[in-house]
Amino acid sequence: MSKSLVAIYPGSFDPPTNGHLDLIARGARLADKLIVAVLQNTQKKALFTTAERCEMLTECVAHLTNVEIDSFDGLLVDYAARRNANTILRGLRTVSDYETESQMALLNRRMRPEAETLFLPASAEHSFLSSRMVKEVITLGGDASTFVPQPVMHRLEAKFPTRK
Ligand code: PNS
Repeated sequence: MSKSLVAIYPGSFDPPTNGHLDLIARGARLADKLIVAVLQNTQKKALFTTAERCEMLTECVAHLTNVEIDSFDGLLVDYAARRNANTILRGLRTVSDYETESQMALLNRRMRPEAETLFLPASAEHSFLSSRMVKEVITLGGDASTFVPQPVMHRLEAKFPTRK
């Protein structure tokens, strides 16, 4: 019997960006099943609730049949064990991403040796994008429509009605 690859793509996704969506589409081609796992809100300063972030992602990945949207709290490796997933997918944009991400991958593997992290380089057109910068642009009155998918833009416009 051949093994099927179940991968988890964890993140805050506050909000999901075109960079996240690119990684999800590419991850879905590599894995038999990809679980996009939204970290549940632990701090009040998140812009969107966990439920809102899951809704936006669900709308964005409706065309990808092997992608599931879920949320988790606690340790990622414990969640991965509950979901029988040994592969964690993460994107890398910059050298500084590599530094933090490699530490996180090593820490996760120390806690759960089966947990391997697979890094995908961000596509060049998204390599400058982050949720934090999208929030900054929109709160300062800028146009974020080329940085996020439509379902996210709609919710940003609802939260910031006077913005572009
Ligand atoms: O999108 P982000 O904020 O870069 O995602 C970070 C995330 C959610 C992957 C990371 O913070 C995480 O795994 N949190 C769960 C708690 C945990 O397992 N911490 C130990 C590894 S850092």
